[in-house]
Amino acid sequence: MLNLPLFQSPKPIQDSFRSDAEIVLYQGDVNSLLAEIPDKTVSLIITSPPYNLGKDYENRVSIEHYLETQTQVIAQLYRVLSDRGSLCWQVGNFVDNGEVYPLDILYYSIFKKLGLYLRNRIIWRFGHGLHASKRFSGRYETILWFTKSEDYTFNLDSVRIPAKYPGKRHFKGPNRGKPSGNPLGKNPSDVWEIIAQEWEDGFLDIPNVKSNHPEKTSHPCQFPIELVERCVLALTNEKDWVFDPYAGVGSSLIAAVMHNRRAMGSEKETQYVDIARERLFSYFNGTLRNRTIGTPVFVPTGKEKVSQVPDEWKAASQKRLLEKKEEAYR
Ligand SMILES: C[S@@+](CC[C@H](N)C(=O)[O-])C[C@H]1O[C@@H](n2cnc3c(N)ncnc32)[C@H](O)[C@@H]1O
Repeated sequence: MLNLPLFQSPKPIQDSFRSDAEIVLYQGDVNSLLAEIPDKTVSLIITSPPYNLGKDYENRVSIEHYLETQTQVIAQLYRVLSDRGSLCWQVGNFVDNGEVYPLDILYYSIFKKLGLYLRNRIIWRFGHGLHASKRFSGRYETILWFTKSEDYTFNLDSVRIPAKYPGKRHFKGPNRGKPSGNPLGKNPSDVWEIIAQEWEDGFLDIPNVKSNHPEKTSHPCQFPIELVERCVLALTNEKDWVFDPYAGVGSSLIAAVMHNRRAMGSEKETQYVDIARERLFSYFNGTLRNRTIGTPVFVPTGKEKVSQVPDEWKAASQKRLLEKKEEAYR
């Protein structure tokens, strides 16, 4: 029998806040949408805010001015967050004249002053990116996960991952001989290896990698749906509101809808809102290109053309190996 995937029936997408809506996709400034949202409505706020990096959609300003503007938005986000709710703030670095400013460290005190509790500083590790020449190449960003109170939603079982050694057993104590792990899998930890946009580095030519990265749109820094899915599953329940104030091409909204949560986002750029709407439609009609949650990261076999040392480099790498050998015998 053919096993066809089941797709949800399409849900209407509202363009402004309505308490009875399933999906709200607002085109405009985050502050205008926030003004419409009642206190304590949202169970999860998850976003990757503008980084002040001078991308197509942002004007570069001083770091002080950037953080001041963000403080005002965050105060409103706090207001709309429910008491058992969570806020996940995904950021990397702001780089000015070669100096690195770790945004999560700069943001931390803004959240702390509001009384939020940090539960994890999650490292999102990805294998590829720009190659730095004056410092080590950056290969991770962080997600600060805060809760509004000490009593919060955390569904660990829904995001457990397969254990490396499920056959391990207790070797002493009252449970001696019994399996020591959890039959549902292990805690995914605070280091998440989820592949980013390797296609931007010219990796499009590797068929396996290409098929691992089906989500790319014209947005310069969208995040993987899979990254949001884990937060949605762990930190909310069905029908809860998930809100991305800087929604881009709608990755968070899609992750929310996929898991039967209500989805809301604001995005100032019309072109990204249009793509977000199209992606939501394609999710409903079964044609959305996305990486399924938990798909293992592609490991090269060494046989791919790009995994092999180019002929032009062989002499140099051979020489380096011989030098290393000699050093070892000295
Ligand atoms: C880092 S991107 C987010 C990308 C998103 N995570 C995705 O997967 O597509 C930040 C987004 O915030 C939007 N943005 C910047 N300032 C905004 C504002 N004041 N109100 C609403 N959106 C804004 C930008 O246009 C940009 O698309």
